[in-house]
Amino acid sequence: MKAFVCPRDLRTSLLVIAICLVSCSSALKIGETCGSQNKCDAGLSCQTCPANGNTRPRCARIQPTSPATKVKALAFNRYSWLTTHNSYALAGARSATGSFLISPMNQEDTVAAQLQNGVRGLMLDMYDFQNDVWLCHSAQGKCYNFTAFQPAVNVLKEIRSFLDKNPSEIVTIFIEDYVTSPNGLTKIFQASGLNKYMFPVSRMPKNGGDWPTVDDMVQKNQRLVVFTSISSKEASEGIAYQWTYVVENQYGDEGMVSGSCPNRAESPAMNTKSRSLVLQNFFHSTPNRSQTCADNSGPLLNMMKTCYDAAGKRWPNFIAVDYYLRSDGGGAPEAVDEANGHLTCGCGNIAYCKANATFGTCDAPPVSPPPPAAADATGGNQPPQSPASLADMDKPAKLLHGILLATATTFAWL
Ligand SMILES: *[C@@H]1O[C@H](CO)[C@@H](O)[C@H](O)[C@H]1NC(C)=O
Ligand SMILES: *[C@@H]1O[C@H](CO)[C@@H](O)[C@H](O)[C@H]1NC(C)=O
Ligand SMILES: *[C@@H]1O[C@H](CO)[C@@H](O)[C@H](O)[C@H]1NC(C)=O
Repeated sequence: MKAFVCPRDLRTSLLVIAICLVSCSSALKIGETCGSQNKCDAGLSCQTCPANGNTRPRCARIQPTSPATKVKALAFNRYSWLTTHNSYALAGARSATGSFLISPMNQEDTVAAQLQNGVRGLMLDMYDFQNDVWLCHSAQGKCYNFTAFQPAVNVLKEIRSFLDKNPSEIVTIFIEDYVTSPNGLTKIFQASGLNKYMFPVSRMPKNGGDWPTVDDMVQKNQRLVVFTSISSKEASEGIAYQWTYVVENQYGDEGMVSGSCPNRAESPAMNTKSRSLVLQNFFHSTPNRSQTCADNSGPLLNMMKTCYDAAGKRWPNFIAVDYYLRSDGGGAPEAVDEANGHLTCGCGNIAYCKANATFGTCDAPPVSPPPPAAADATGGNQPPQSPASLADMDKPAKLLHGILLATATTFAWL
C-alpha cells in the first residue's frame, strides 16, 4: 500500500483506513498466529487443527504455486496438480431437486472457487438422472433426489468459464462414470461448451512416453483432459479410459495405511511405466472435516514418499484430497509444491527451482520456525476447543475467501 500518500482530509483517511482494514492488514505469512485483527496473506487462511493439537489459529496455505509459470514449457506429465476428491460435494449443499442430501460431503467451496485457488484436477461422479446427467454421491450406480447434487452441466459450465478467462490454464477431469444413456457424456460436454477444449485421445501417449508440453496444449487450446472410468467410452465417445494412461493408488481408508501404496483394483500396478501419469489419492472412506486437516498435513507428505517408491520412483502428477482447504500449515498445496519441485527441477520444492538452471541446482530453503502450535504455550493439557470458538475460527477463513473469490460464488449454497 505504498501508493497511498498522506491523505489531507478526514473522509479520505477514513476511507483509506476502511480499505486497509480489508487489504493492508492481509500480511501474515504461513504459520503466523492470526485472528480477526491479524489477517493472513492472500493464498492463506486462518485456521486451527485441533485433530493434531494445533489449537492456535495460524495461517495455512490454500493455494499451490502455479508450476508452469515457475518452470515453463515441460511435458504435461512433468507437473503435479492439486486435485479435489468429489469436487462437487459441497458441505452444506442442498440437492438442486430441493431435497435434503444424505450423501457424505467432501469439499467446502464450489468448483469455481477451487479453480481460483489453483485446483487443476476434479473428480466428478456422474449419473443418469431425470433425463440428464447429474453429479451424485450415491451407491449402486443409481442416483436419488437425496443423493443428487446438481446437473453436471452446471459445473462443466463453471470449468468452461474458467478456461475461457484463463487461456494458459489446463484442467483435468476424472469421471467416476455411471452414465449409460447413449452419448450421455458427449451431450453434456457439448451443452457446456467444454468440448472445444478437449485434449484428443489420439494425442495421449499410450506407451509411457511424454505428453505434449503444456505450451503445446495451450497453443492448440487443448486444455481440458478428461478421463472416464468406463473403458468402452474411449471407442464410443472418444473419452479416454483413465487407467490406460494413469496409475492410481487405492482410495479410502485402505489407501491411508502408513508405509504402503497399493494400486486400486482398476489400475495397473503403481510401477507400470507404460502409464505416464501417477494419481495419488489420500482421503478416508468417510470424509471427516475435522480430521482432514491432520490427514492433509504430515501424513499426506509421508504417503507421497511411499507412493513415489511404489510408483517406480515417480512423483504424483495428481494429488487428490478431501477438504483441500484444511491443514495445519502447508497442507495439500505444500505437497503439490514439493512434487513439482522434484518433477520440474529436481529440488525439494518448486519454490527452490532456479530459473534456467541445470536439473538439481536449487536455491536454499529459507528457515523460519512457526510459532507454537498449541494455543496455551505454558504447557499442560489443552482444553478441548468449544463449538463456539470453532465457529469463530471459520469466520476469518470465510471472509478471506469471500474477498479472494467474490466473483466465483454465484451458487455457493444451493
Ligand atoms: C425428486 O425431485 C423432483 C424435483 O426435481 C420432484 O419432482 C420429485 O417428486 C422428487 N421425487 C421424490 C421421490 O421425492
Ligand atoms: C472425526 O475426526 C475427529 C478428529 O480426529 C474425531 O475426534 C471424530 O471422532 C471423528 N468423527 C468420526 C465420525 O469419525
Ligand atoms: C531464462 O531463459 C529464458 C529463455 O531463454 C530467458 O528469456 C530468461 O531471461 C532467462 N531467465 C534468467 C533469469 O536467466
